[in-house]
Amino acid sequence: MKEVKFNDLTLQIHKINDLINENIQIVINSNAFIKGNFVKQFEDNFKKYSNVKHAIGVSNGTDALLIAMESLKSKGEVLVQPTTYVASASMIPRIGNEVKFIDVDKDSWQISLDNVSDKFSKEVVGIIGVHLYGFAFDVENISNFMKKNNIWMIEDSAQSHGAKINGRNTGTFGDIATYSFFPGKNLGAFGDAGAITTDDDDLATLCRKLADGGRLSKYEHEILGWNSRLDTIHAAVLDAKLTLLEEWNIERRKIAKIYDDTLSNIEQVTLPVKLKNTDPVYHIYPILVENRENFINYLRDEGVSTGIHYPIPLHLQKAFSYLGHKEGDFPNSEKICFNEVSLPIFPYMEEDDVYYVCEKIKQYFKKT
Ligand SMILES: Cc1ncc(COP(=O)(O)O)c(C=O)c1O
Repeated sequence: MKEVKFNDLTLQIHKINDLINENIQIVINSNAFIKGNFVKQFEDNFKKYSNVKHAIGVSNGTDALLIAMESLKSKGEVLVQPTTYVASASMIPRIGNEVKFIDVDKDSWQISLDNVSDKFSKEVVGIIGVHLYGFAFDVENISNFMKKNNIWMIEDSAQSHGAKINGRNTGTFGDIATYSFFPGKNLGAFGDAGAITTDDDDLATLCRKLADGGRLSKYEHEILGWNSRLDTIHAAVLDAKLTLLEEWNIERRKIAKIYDDTLSNIEQVTLPVKLKNTDPVYHIYPILVENRENFINYLRDEGVSTGIHYPIPLHLQKAFSYLGHKEGDFPNSEKICFNEVSLPIFPYMEEDDVYYVCEKIKQYFKKT
């Protein structure tokens, strides 16, 4: 029987192995494991790739959110969706802000201007918008709304490296964008890593200080900060892998197109509606099916591994129980979380395997 993995990093690493090894050896030879040359080199290359003025490497995407939010200063309620990885929301109360959940749109599965304006009040100081699954949310209209109301916006771009809306990179609309380079992301390190990007000089300086012990110089600490630097080894790996990120995103789009063409004809499968003029990067290929346990077990028996992103919406997580939410509060988010299945998608996935997954899904729904 065929075995189709959910993700296989070996294939992409293999493509760039020589450069990765060369870069790592340079770091070892230089002994500059902290703040070595590759950190600046990667930051420079990543800011060019992302089309922004500043990129600051940090330890992971969670810290990126924490530091970005701290740099934005104004404190109060922050809007965020319950369909995301926990870090998009869990850093909000960590620095004295309050979480205010908003539902996502039932068709795009992303936040929309309606979702934002519905829950908007004078207590709201900011929004963390997530380009979920590597699709783009309606960031143009939402960022205009936020600017008009003098509210900050962080684009959580942990899943959307390279995604575009009207030809413009996601992560360039809000005040600041945050990235995760968790190994399985479209651009992933060999461990935890992340970045903050912004066009604002002052925010960039402040974020850099916050991520490095609040330092001005080696022994002068101007403000209270954290230790959340990007390790040189990770920067060296990321800098090598960045040279192929565009190719990898194109690979993902090719696979997504095969899934789209087949699965859009199966009545029992619901796909997210891609917003007009957006160019997703398909970090995840999500579908909704009823009775997902059966479906997942069937695919597993046919050799196909799948994932779920995310089984429990954040408003129903124990960590947020203090907000007093109950099932039914955010129906679109709940429907997505309770029915979502993530199909295999990764650069250099064999086309035959994609067709195999499609065929198995077709057979499943013929039987049920
Ligand atoms: C949307 C989103 N935000 C934030 C994060 C946190 O990133 P990290 O795991 O690097 O801390 C992730 C990573 O899974 C994510 O997917």
